[in-house]
Amino acid sequence: MHTLAVARSVHGIEHLVAAEIRHAGLGVVREVRHREVWFEVTGPGALELRLADDVLLVGAVVDGVGPRRDALRRLASAAAGVDVRAVAAGGPPEPGERSRGVEVSASFLGRRAYNRYDIEDAVGPMLGRPYHSRRDGRVPPAGAASWRVTVEGERAVIALRAGARPLHRRAYKVRSVPGTLHPPLAAAMAYLAEPKGLVIDPCCGAGTTLIEAAALAPEARTLGFDRCGEAIAAAAANGPCLAWARADAGRVPLHSGSVDRVLVNPPWQRQVRLAGSGHRLWAELRRVLADGGRVVALVPEVPRGWAVLTRVDISLFGRHPILAIMTPDKS
Ligand SMILES: C[S@@+](CC[C@H](N)C(=O)[O-])C[C@H]1O[C@@H](n2cnc3c(N)ncnc32)[C@H](O)[C@@H]1O
Repeated sequence: MHTLAVARSVHGIEHLVAAEIRHAGLGVVREVRHREVWFEVTGPGALELRLADDVLLVGAVVDGVGPRRDALRRLASAAAGVDVRAVAAGGPPEPGERSRGVEVSASFLGRRAYNRYDIEDAVGPMLGRPYHSRRDGRVPPAGAASWRVTVEGERAVIALRAGARPLHRRAYKVRSVPGTLHPPLAAAMAYLAEPKGLVIDPCCGAGTTLIEAAALAPEARTLGFDRCGEAIAAAAANGPCLAWARADAGRVPLHSGSVDRVLVNPPWQRQVRLAGSGHRLWAELRRVLADGGRVVALVPEVPRGWAVLTRVDISLFGRHPILAIMTPDKS
């Protein structure tokens, strides 16, 4: 029997996560929901998903979890019925990882006569020992098998995190900058861009978009520019690139028509705006883009003079930017 899994994602890119699962032959997608893609695991490699925030292996789906405290008994009994070995076996092998006991993190919507710690302490001891409670701010040891309980309405899902840490936490990202991009969203930009030839980011920050593009298409040549020296140093610490260089996005040091793909999330929050001659960014991208080239941008609105080929509305940390594949509007 195949293990059922849930890939969690940024809202807006669920259908791209589903496509990534299908293309990678990881599983059969059963349902796409708000921030979740449910799939049956049919192949290895769930931890290689780049567009998902995390992958969880489903142990139990429990109905009738009401707001009263007797719901805790129902959850505990459902957890006791989980075949922990079979669930873990459905995920990737992680030698030694499951040897340090169990921790649980619970979340729920709506008013209830119990809190998250009550759920965790009801379920945790049923899933393995030693159980490490989070009550009173205690922090479970690294290496404990990490279970999640989510309760929505009267339905709860008890699931085991497939990897040792959430997928969105990339090992490469050792340095950051203000406004740095959530890696799965950068991966979604790269996925939409279909990187090839020369790929640039004129506001590269810590380099996330280009590092994700290189992971997807190692044959592409990547070049990252930023006006800020600290950003360039962060990008260089995070990953390799043809060059990480200081430059103003309004004066990209490249020949006209030489760039095949642009990935960019320019600063647009009130506190952080394009500096220097950044107001020329879009005119400059028009100049450097080769015929047939495309820009994939994460922006608050589509800039004037650009035609949108694909638009994905995102919801992230209370903001609602647009992920757009664009080409210069020649009409
Ligand atoms: C939202 S951040 C980009 C984050 C990046 N994608 C990442 O993952 O770290 C915007 C970047 O634009 C840079 N920037 C602002 N004005 C610029 C300009 N005129 N030219 C080039 N870079 C600029 C900032 O220094 C900042 O690093």
